[in-house]
Amino acid sequence: MTGLKARVVDVVHETAEAHSLVLEPAEGDRDRFSYRPGQFLTVRVPAEDGWAARCYSLCSSPLTDDRLKVTVKRVEGGLGSNWICDNVTAGDVLEVLRPAGTFTPSSLDDDLLLVAGGSGITPVMSILKSCLAGGRGKVALLYANRDERSVIFADELRALTEEHPDRLTVVHLLESVQGLPTPATVRSLARPYTRRQAFVCGPEVFMDLVTDTFTGLGMRVHVERFFSLENDPFEDPEAPGEPAPGGEIGEIEVEMDGETRTVPWPKSERLLDALLRAGVDAPFSCREGNCSACACVALEGEVTLDANAVLDAQDLADGLILACQARPVTDRLKITYDG
Ligand code: FES
Repeated sequence: MTGLKARVVDVVHETAEAHSLVLEPAEGDRDRFSYRPGQFLTVRVPAEDGWAARCYSLCSSPLTDDRLKVTVKRVEGGLGSNWICDNVTAGDVLEVLRPAGTFTPSSLDDDLLLVAGGSGITPVMSILKSCLAGGRGKVALLYANRDERSVIFADELRALTEEHPDRLTVVHLLESVQGLPTPATVRSLARPYTRRQAFVCGPEVFMDLVTDTFTGLGMRVHVERFFSLENDPFEDPEAPGEPAPGGEIGEIEVEMDGETRTVPWPKSERLLDALLRAGVDAPFSCREGNCSACACVALEGEVTLDANAVLDAQDLADGLILACQARPVTDRLKITYDG
């Protein structure tokens, strides 16, 4: 097992369909729960034929909240969301993977445009609270929902707007009042903010509409997409100490949690496999190039990616790579997970 243990200390009923779990890391695992605003947790959930894993964004801020909090909204027929909303209570212990993901601003001082649809507010809330608490920039939030009763964090947003009237603007879009968002609505709401980077999370159709509109306005857009994991990342993949495959061996210098170490990289292996084999506590979730949980920054050296459904051209230009898909081009690679 590669999972960490987190105790549920509270369950908050945010709306009729959304529950938040407040989590306390098990003693001894605390350091491995450090996270950046906008990242997610992978949670192990029971399935008919064993176990499955689902990703849920953290809505808490590492700057303002002592405990971690994920918000889970029921999805019709959804395995993980219904199990959590129906069964998880205070005192339960969940098995999770360390926080991961690249949906996080590079600077909390930048002015940002945040866009959320429904439960897509979860990682957006983490970014919003972190920017207000730890940065100097202005934040505008466009928040789309079906109706007033489905607005998650309504009271918290109201309080934050009162606390930061010069830095936070919240615009609600309610389907029950304004109808479904259209490109024209989104374009006109975004007009004052086109010089800002945008962070967008919500239902697929909504995100596509917003992303296409913003890209048309020349904006840099970061999106967070979730999907069901095909495999079970909690099963030990490459156990530390297992003999490496033969053939040519390169090396990886890896920075993580403030420490640097050098480990071998059999050239027939992907980067994540080599790191795990060497006992490095590298984060991952899908292992299919879809989620960005394994993303790190290549500081020196070069790799190719077998698959990549999540990093855009700018991410790649910034040096981000997916460890689960990276194969060596150069003999030596220097990477960092601290960024
Ligand atoms: S673990 Fe999901 S992209 Fe690598």
